[in-house]
Amino acid sequence: MTANRPFFITTPIYYVNDLPHLGHAYTTVACDVMARFMRLDGRRVRFLTGTDEHGQKVEQSARTADIPPQELTDRNSAGFREMTRLLGVSNDDFIRTTEPRHTRGVDVLWQELERRGEIYLGPFAGWYSVRDEAFYDESELVDGKAPTGAEVEWLEEENYFFRLSAWQDRLLAYYEENPDAIAPRSRRNEVISFVRGGLHDLSISRTSFSWGIPVPGNPKHVIYVWLDALANYITAVGYPDTESKEFSTFWPADLHMVGKDILRFHTVYWPAFLMAAGLAPPRRVFAHGWWTVEGQKMSKSLNNFIPPKQLVETYGLDPVRYFLLRELPFGSDGDFSHRAVVGRLNGDLANDLGNLAQRVLVMINRNCDACVPEPATLSTADEALLDAASGLLETVRVYISEQAFHLALEAIWRVVGEANRYVDEQAPWALSRSNPVRMRSVLYTLAETLRQLAILIQPFVPGSAERLLDQLAIPEAERGFAGLAQTALRPGTRLPKPEGIFPRFLEETRA
Ligand code: MSP
Repeated sequence: MTANRPFFITTPIYYVNDLPHLGHAYTTVACDVMARFMRLDGRRVRFLTGTDEHGQKVEQSARTADIPPQELTDRNSAGFREMTRLLGVSNDDFIRTTEPRHTRGVDVLWQELERRGEIYLGPFAGWYSVRDEAFYDESELVDGKAPTGAEVEWLEEENYFFRLSAWQDRLLAYYEENPDAIAPRSRRNEVISFVRGGLHDLSISRTSFSWGIPVPGNPKHVIYVWLDALANYITAVGYPDTESKEFSTFWPADLHMVGKDILRFHTVYWPAFLMAAGLAPPRRVFAHGWWTVEGQKMSKSLNNFIPPKQLVETYGLDPVRYFLLRELPFGSDGDFSHRAVVGRLNGDLANDLGNLAQRVLVMINRNCDACVPEPATLSTADEALLDAASGLLETVRVYISEQAFHLALEAIWRVVGEANRYVDEQAPWALSRSNPVRMRSVLYTLAETLRQLAILIQPFVPGSAERLLDQLAIPEAERGFAGLAQTALRPGTRLPKPEGIFPRFLEETRA
């Protein structure tokens, strides 16, 4: 695998019966960090997101709102598109499952599965949850409800079935041969034991409602919304034109990022559908955890879904992005609380990195004629800090390849901490009179460390990183990761007037 292989990353496509909230923002921001990181690392990236617009759940929501489903989907899909803008998300494409490029592709996928003998018509009787858009076995129910807590209804219909049971061994072989295909490891084990437990054929059509893609040749049926939705990952890169440059460049996807709730769809059904249609399964699916808000599950009854707009207006975009990826080990559940966000914002961002940058830039501005200082011979302490900074990319790259965002940030902030200790020890403010030559070496070392840090934090906090890079007068062309080792700050370069990068969050004092 070459480091320059193209990189295709996807978010789940979001149901349009809901408005965007913290949970959607989380998955999307995590993907954005991956996409930005890979671009900076020189890879050709395709980053896809979009909306899941068919199915009974959306049809029911439209009925409740007393509008046609297409109107509901148009309105709410626009809300998800707006979310990407609000969160500074760098997606290359936004797919909607009601678009012709998608419905045409799903139609062909169905016919291909049928042609290969993977589909048959039969009677279905079983439990269905509209909220989850999922079928459940009697044995899976807990107190008469789905394991997710959703209501289920008894369904008896004539349905088309996919021969999922025939794919058990090939799925297990795929997991075995691709140890990184499902992450984190605990999730991988969960999937393997589910598949080992035996698979039933899967109902893949419905007849009791009509908001969906009609089954080719039998329009009484609509295609099961998960088969329809999962296919977005291939229709967006040109399926059914599998010979196209686009498809062969980007498929199989490098990473489907999903929440833990939709793991089974992505790691059991999806690879089975793909293999059954003669296509390669994805390289990796990562299932992240769920957020509670101030200790409580987000729910309709509590009405505590935080809209992305509110997050950004309250805390600012970069602090939100930073918090989401720093606070939890990626893959675990956690709690979103005002206190925790403000703690990170004022601690890690404003105090640790913000103050460091401000102190260094102001000292350069005052004591070095606002130009990058010329270093003399570097001391062991200078070299140690510079080495710690320049060694970061390698460490961070490994963590990012494992989606360990929290560890990547922790490693970067360890160097922020070292730089702060170095400033205190070297006390450059005291050197300005006693030893200006030494002061220039110290400030150069700090500015070069800041340059390294600013380049590396771009995927996480792109706006703030850009402001810091502007203040260090780093040319656009030198902001990629290749620039980390190839170039360094050039002494004599004039720097603009320093401005704070991470303002502190001040609690409103209420009378
Ligand atoms: N439409 C399907 C996905 C189809 S992909 C082919 C779907 N949509 S969703 O809108 O319900 O959820 C999308 C994502 O939001 C999931 O990854 C889910 O885990 C995530 N989240 C929803 N609530 C969440 C939290 N409370 N916390 C973190 N993520 C959560 O499922």
